[in-house]
Amino acid sequence: MKQKVFTFSMLTASLFASNVFAANHQVTISANLQDRGAVINKDIYGQFAEHLGRGIYGGLWVGHDSDIPNTKGFRNDVVQALRDIKVPLIRWPGGCFADQYHWRDGIGPQADRPITINSNWGGVDETNAVGTHEFFDLADLIGAETYINGNLGTGSAQEMADWIEYITSDNDSALANERRANGRREPWEIKYFGIGNEAWGCGGNMNADHYVDLYRQYSSAIQTPPGKEILLVGSGGTTEDTQWTEVLSDRIHNDMDGISFHFYTLPTDDWDNKGSATEFDNTMWFHTMERTYRMKTYLENNIEILDRNDPEGKLGFYVDEWGTWYDTEEGREPGFLYQQNTLRDAVVAAVNLDLFHQYAKRVHMTNIAQMVNVLQAMILTDGAEMVKTPTYYVYDMYKIFHDATSIPFTLDTTKYAMDGKDLPAVSASLAQGTDGRIYMALVNLDPVNDADIDLNLNGKINTILAGRILTADAINAKNTFDNPHALEPQPFQDWADNFVLPAKSVVVLTLK
Ligand code: AHR
Repeated sequence: MKQKVFTFSMLTASLFASNVFAANHQVTISANLQDRGAVINKDIYGQFAEHLGRGIYGGLWVGHDSDIPNTKGFRNDVVQALRDIKVPLIRWPGGCFADQYHWRDGIGPQADRPITINSNWGGVDETNAVGTHEFFDLADLIGAETYINGNLGTGSAQEMADWIEYITSDNDSALANERRANGRREPWEIKYFGIGNEAWGCGGNMNADHYVDLYRQYSSAIQTPPGKEILLVGSGGTTEDTQWTEVLSDRIHNDMDGISFHFYTLPTDDWDNKGSATEFDNTMWFHTMERTYRMKTYLENNIEILDRNDPEGKLGFYVDEWGTWYDTEEGREPGFLYQQNTLRDAVVAAVNLDLFHQYAKRVHMTNIAQMVNVLQAMILTDGAEMVKTPTYYVYDMYKIFHDATSIPFTLDTTKYAMDGKDLPAVSASLAQGTDGRIYMALVNLDPVNDADIDLNLNGKINTILAGRILTADAINAKNTFDNPHALEPQPFQDWADNFVLPAKSVVVLTLK
């Protein structure tokens, strides 16, 4: 495909042609490039893979005997694509599925595993072909670390403790030997372990005080080998409800490393009529951005509680489910949560990642929901075919922020406004990567008006070494199985201290 190179002259011409030059947003970004803020933990780029629809089966797992090229049963095309964006962490097996999952169903010879019912997601048969050993194979193939979510809702403290021993013990214990007999001699490492999921909902419909008592019981049952600490995650709240953060951080004093938080972007704010993934206008685009941007308030409100209850900053705030959630496409299984992904999703992803960078001191880990074929996915599959979504490309462009060190900056921007509400028109990130280079991301949330960017970095910067842009003419531009390369990052060469950031675009620059 011939690459489109964005230059100042092209942009200027298109601006005059569309007669919107006068409406350009005015943006100034100022920073001292010697300053340093928090490290952007690479686990902010974690991904969620639940036993839900075709997220695992079909999307990742095709089985050893499939015609689709695979390694250890996992399709090579998807694994390679995920390796390319350096997925640091995978959360598994749910979600709501986690609180109905019994790990013993997923070990031993696959032919002998019981068929259970995935009652949360369509009531379909769950073959348990992907269990503990397969999950660790997947993580290994992708090069990711692991986040396992345990079953508090329908399990027991003993079952949870046994699972962790089975995975992590190097003793001569019966459980460790069972793992060896099932083909894995060495123990595995678990980076994060969640004690339940959405305990206020599908994880048991309980209140926060009851959950805290159970958390204490379960966390004290868990043993990990010395020197192999697991980061334990308390199941927290959602949207504007800060009560779970308040109660957990107040009443759990040991054995908790972070509190989870879930927030999904519904364009309409209505669970019965969420809006279409692909058919929307500029008004719905604004509503989507406005709802996405609520993440900032939710982060601030919860972090304020943590700063009060945990002034030493020991607890992380883990947004372990986030992303867009639209109506199911007509003709598709409602319980499978398959949705297309457009330029709008790419902008939503970039805005969220910028916010996580901004609050990186507390936000150490997040997981976009979900990795393949479910909700705001990186990848869509159809039989042997695979498509990388616009969201995938944001993760590709932003991977230079993994473990980068933030550089504090101020951003003055005009507003993107509609119906009496407004948002900053531009979102940004600035950090020094682990390679020593300075990286800047810029996102124009406005689908119509470009932004005039004035960089005021240590006075003046010398050069922008490279740039990439993700944008399109259509607000609902997407990649399909018929046209899989319609929307991909292009070189962005419109650089100087002052330049134009096109409407509805995500740009990443390497500065010198
Ligand atoms: O990601 C889909 C579902 O959303 C998860 O299973 C659940 O935790 C949340 O409600």
